[in-house]
Amino acid sequence: MLYAGKWDRAGLDYQALKNQWHVVARADEVSAERPKAVRLLGEELVLWRDGAGQIHAWKDYCGHRGAKLSLGCVKKGEIECPYHGWRFDAGGQCTRVPAHPDQATPSSARLIFRHHAAERYGLIWASLDAPQRPLPVFPEWEDDSFRKVFAGPYRYLGNALRSVENFLDASHFPFVHANLNGDPDAPEPLPDYQVFKDERGLRTSEISVFQPYGDHRGIPVTARYTYSVFNPTTAYFVKKTGDTERFCTFLNATPVDEAECVIWLIVAINFGADLSEEKILYRQDMVFEQDRLIVESQRPARLPLDIQQEMHVRSDRLGIEYRRWIKELGLRADAPNHAEPRAAALLN
Ligand code: FES
Ligand code: CO
Repeated sequence: MLYAGKWDRAGLDYQALKNQWHVVARADEVSAERPKAVRLLGEELVLWRDGAGQIHAWKDYCGHRGAKLSLGCVKKGEIECPYHGWRFDAGGQCTRVPAHPDQATPSSARLIFRHHAAERYGLIWASLDAPQRPLPVFPEWEDDSFRKVFAGPYRYLGNALRSVENFLDASHFPFVHANLNGDPDAPEPLPDYQVFKDERGLRTSEISVFQPYGDHRGIPVTARYTYSVFNPTTAYFVKKTGDTERFCTFLNATPVDEAECVIWLIVAINFGADLSEEKILYRQDMVFEQDRLIVESQRPARLPLDIQQEMHVRSDRLGIEYRRWIKELGLRADAPNHAEPRAAALLN
């Protein structure tokens, strides 16, 4: 099946993703008063902040009559359902039933579908099950010699893992990004490179790519790319030009559903003080729009994890190792364990 619309939970890709951190919003999108609805792996989640500003990611569901909590609001650090005004504290415990103000709320009135949430790099992260890997590192985030620019988010009607693999693929530049990152009539061969794997994920040796049209400044350059993959949906490259110039891209592709993803990008750059943010964004927007058309066209939508599927050459080494790694993570994950929500009832 090319696109089922709802992620097949038995698939190894889903298994590899359900217990990993994924970016679901920018931190400033969730205020102290307003919850926010997001989707992750086909699940509807509500993000909200408690009185201490701590972020929470819950199933977007009220146990009383099933309304979406994201339509409600946050009052006194508790989330209030839009339907009958029940309030829940950060632990999921119901603290208030306006129809029966004198009645104590029993401990059974408790929302149990709370997922994992964190805030870092100006982004909100969520994991459906207990995350198996730490939040990804982004070394340049704390380094003031790097300017940070948020690009996107870019919405693709394509698969998140396909889009990460596209980001890790250095041999498509002359074609998808023709006359920008390469010349389709004279494509440079891609030099051989190595892929290393350890507990932090995957990393390549330096890959030199001649860019005849140059970087943002239009100067022809040989750029040296080093790619890393920290999580199945978090990848990163450092692009070196000259001795000290670094252009880093920290990419997160949110698997909204099997064939829908949102790409969040942070660029960190330590040169080109005269380069405007608009110019950086203009180029990123163009590149990701070009990539979008390709990723949305790929069939099947889901990334094949069986290496026998699709054809490979040496330049695909990182993609091959990426597929193997996702498969390994999927095999390691527990069997699916998603019960339907249990109603939280007030019995007396
Ligand atoms: Fe949420 Fe009734 S459905 S309070
Ligand atoms: Co591309």
